[in-house]
Amino acid sequence: MADAVADAGRRVAIGVDVGGTGVKVAAVDVASGEFVGDRHRVLTPQPSTPLAVAKVIGRLVKQATRIAGAADAPVGIGVPSVVIDGVTRSAANIDPSWIGFEAAGALAKAVGRRVTVLNDADAAGLAEMRFGAGVGTRGTVLVLTLGTGLGSGLFIDGRLVPNTELGHMEIRGRDAERRSAAIARVRRGISWKAWAQDLDEHLHAIDRLFSPNLIILGGGVSKNAQRFLPYLTVRPAVVVATFRNDAGIVGAALAAAESATG
Ligand code: BGC
Repeated sequence: MADAVADAGRRVAIGVDVGGTGVKVAAVDVASGEFVGDRHRVLTPQPSTPLAVAKVIGRLVKQATRIAGAADAPVGIGVPSVVIDGVTRSAANIDPSWIGFEAAGALAKAVGRRVTVLNDADAAGLAEMRFGAGVGTRGTVLVLTLGTGLGSGLFIDGRLVPNTELGHMEIRGRDAERRSAAIARVRRGISWKAWAQDLDEHLHAIDRLFSPNLIILGGGVSKNAQRFLPYLTVRPAVVVATFRNDAGIVGAALAAAESATG
């Protein structure tokens, strides 16, 4: 996008969202949360080993960097894992070899510059709190991403409490996300209503533990919100993510931009 490139004052960062199903990348104007140029998505390689995923990220970031015309744009990468000091510590919907992987170092090598690595749902939450459905909401806000897994971003007065993993709360003796993640509806071949009831049970359990002021639902299913929102009975307000399935990309870019300046 030549006109985007020509806009010199723009602060751009590259956001990467690694999911169990797809890897998505875009350049993001961090002052507005808008994409600069197109979003690119490829299927997550299978097996989704760190090496295979890093290769894909390297290629996509190169492309996005060229489009944005910002060779030194900070790079943020959201991954479906607990991330502590750049090391990935869990792997529910990605190859188990991510556990204990020095992701920040290895991914920096793959893209040729420093990267910020964080949990994918935490990233989505940052975008929603800054520019989306959570703007101005104080107190406790939960951003839940419904996709291959169920991710959570917990915010207290706008500040992120990283690495909450509410998809793995135990409900009916197993991981809650086995029933409430978006893929569970498809895998089990159940109706939107039946799936919404399972999601609702999970939201009630979350409300009992956290009493949030607001729950923001993102991820792939957010474009079909009208098919399940009417069945939710939980007490807190539930809204759909403004950025829908792109929140993770935008938030990863924001995290990178902030870690570059701060
Ligand atoms: C993972 C989380 C991730 C979520 C959404 C879960 O299975 O444990 O780390 O945020 O899926 O991708």
